[in-house]
Amino acid sequence: MADKLIIFDTTLRDGEQSPGASMTKDEKVRIARQLERLKVDVIEAGFAAASPGDFESIKAIAAAVREPIICSLSRANDRDISRAAEALEKAQRKRIHTFIATSPLHMEMKLRMSPDQVLEQAIQAVRFARQFTDDVEFSPEDASRSDFDFLCRVIEAVIKEGATTINFADTVGYGVPELYGSTLKRLRETIPNSDKAIWSVHCHNDLGMAVANSLAGVMIGGARQVECTINGLGERAGNTALEEIVMAVRTRKDHFNLDIGIDTTQIVATSKMVSQITGFAVQPNKAIVGANAFAHASGIHQDGILKARNTYEIMRAEDVGWSANKIVLGKLSGRNAFKQRLQELGIALESETEINAAFARFKELADKKSEIFDEDIMSVVADEEHSHDA
Ligand code: KIV
Ligand code: ZN
Repeated sequence: MADKLIIFDTTLRDGEQSPGASMTKDEKVRIARQLERLKVDVIEAGFAAASPGDFESIKAIAAAVREPIICSLSRANDRDISRAAEALEKAQRKRIHTFIATSPLHMEMKLRMSPDQVLEQAIQAVRFARQFTDDVEFSPEDASRSDFDFLCRVIEAVIKEGATTINFADTVGYGVPELYGSTLKRLRETIPNSDKAIWSVHCHNDLGMAVANSLAGVMIGGARQVECTINGLGERAGNTALEEIVMAVRTRKDHFNLDIGIDTTQIVATSKMVSQITGFAVQPNKAIVGANAFAHASGIHQDGILKARNTYEIMRAEDVGWSANKIVLGKLSGRNAFKQRLQELGIALESETEINAAFARFKELADKKSEIFDEDIMSVVADEEHSHDA
């Protein structure tokens, strides 16, 4: 039987850390309900101690959304953890996610703590969080730049305290796929109690490799949870894009052999909602959810698609929530695509000669315009009919 890959969505927490992407409580609840329709496994609803607004948003989501686990982030201290627990009180299923930095740079320059102090604080935090829930996630922040032996000590200790998920955070997007995956594998092989926890990947996109690193963490490292955001929203260059992970695993099931519970037909609606609420436009060539992700402009491709869609499509547009794929008529289009559009518009030209003449006019026009709309086709045909009347 295939393993399940847990989809942990952090659009409302790490995604909101995108400068300019802050959301109101009502907007967050709307997105959380949509994430429930999408069937994500875990929603990280916010960071309860960060602000009263974040606290209220988590509280509202915990009351409104029943299926997914609702999670709050907290630093590794009692106050943050208590706030998280309070905000999550009404949740059907709750998770506290606590973190502390483990890299030498962060411990020395940011926390001004010794490694032993960090280790002790991590242990205390997990022990304290376990008083509120038996679902506790621990993240060694900046793990990909941490000392391997120290990381092993911290992780072994927090698992002993009851951490149920360990998140290998590539906080600054420094990871490269093979190394990120093999380090995770080595951690799991070295830490004696590693199989008592589910391992998770959390990657940032500073070098454009968040999705590749996450997948390497899954395939090489054995992670079974991916932390991701809709449209790859997130701090700096963003986080791993949920839609890309889900469709990679689904489309290449032959390779990944993992099950995911996501209703992929909700992907586009979720992407559009997040884009509209945050005001962050989705680039046209963005995989899966960009306006051009299923659009075909070249004549050769259009001809192939009209004969068999899988000639140039590895997924169906409808499977991710688009109403259809798109044949974009322009100067590169061929006669076949033109003829097909005439049929769709209910235009029946009498003979092949008429079609050829209209196609020639269409090509002339297409040289002058970057995209041809249905109205343009109709006027091309009308010109053709007038030329007969004259
Ligand atoms: O990037 C990061 O390290 C985080 C942690 C808090 C998990 O977002
Ligand atoms: Zn992050």
